[in-house]
Amino acid sequence: MKDIIVAIDGYSSSGKSTMARQLARAVGYTYIDSGAMYRAVTLYAMRNGMVRSDGSIDVEALERVLPGLGIEFRVLKPGESAHMFLNGEDVEREIRSLEVSAHVSPVAKLPQVRNALTAIMRGYGRVGRIVMDGRDIGTTVFPDAEMKIFVNASAQERARRRYRELLDKGEQVDYDAVLANIIERDDIDVNRAESPLRKADDAIMLDNGSMTPDEQLRWLLAKFHSIADA
Ligand code: C5P
Repeated sequence: MKDIIVAIDGYSSSGKSTMARQLARAVGYTYIDSGAMYRAVTLYAMRNGMVRSDGSIDVEALERVLPGLGIEFRVLKPGESAHMFLNGEDVEREIRSLEVSAHVSPVAKLPQVRNALTAIMRGYGRVGRIVMDGRDIGTTVFPDAEMKIFVNASAQERARRRYRELLDKGEQVDYDAVLANIIERDDIDVNRAESPLRKADDAIMLDNGSMTPDEQLRWLLAKFHSIADA
């Protein structure tokens, strides 16, 4: 069996991370959530006054601190997903809040931020045997990835999922606010100049709206083995 890189891209809350995590566990690969890295940089910017009250970003200040930021994944319990650590602090929970979601796309638009995080992601790729999910993994981070999936589902379906997820975590949320955030992030992610969200030409499209998690895993494993065992 070949060691490969699996790139899973798609819109916000399309179920990419569940899918990537499922596949990684089933084949013994490491799962890397690239969105968590953008979220950690955003949290840092928010905590340090670099996100102004009108939502704009103090790009110069953020650029200055970027090279020194500690962005790393740590596995706390064997067999469980890694947590995101920012300068040594476990921020896994905080980066998933609606406040961070509201500011992450303007931060992820900045070329300096993308370049810094893309370099870290490629470092993980050198080790190989990874499943990474995001927006530009198959197009920019790993254009040569052996397996590329592009996931899609309607904004309403994705908002319903995200809303339920946040409720399960005990967050106070409003469905309309979740939907508005998804539509806004889609718009920024698709229309940004730097590495916009789009399907790589050689990515396989998966509309998972009507698939159960089991069906999805079977589908992914069949694709994985057709590539890795070839
Ligand atoms: O995947 P998740 O929704 O957690 O990602 C948060 C945000 O980070 C996205 O809305 C997008 O703006 C940005 N992102 C990105 N490129 C990636 C992963 C995430 O621009 N590879």
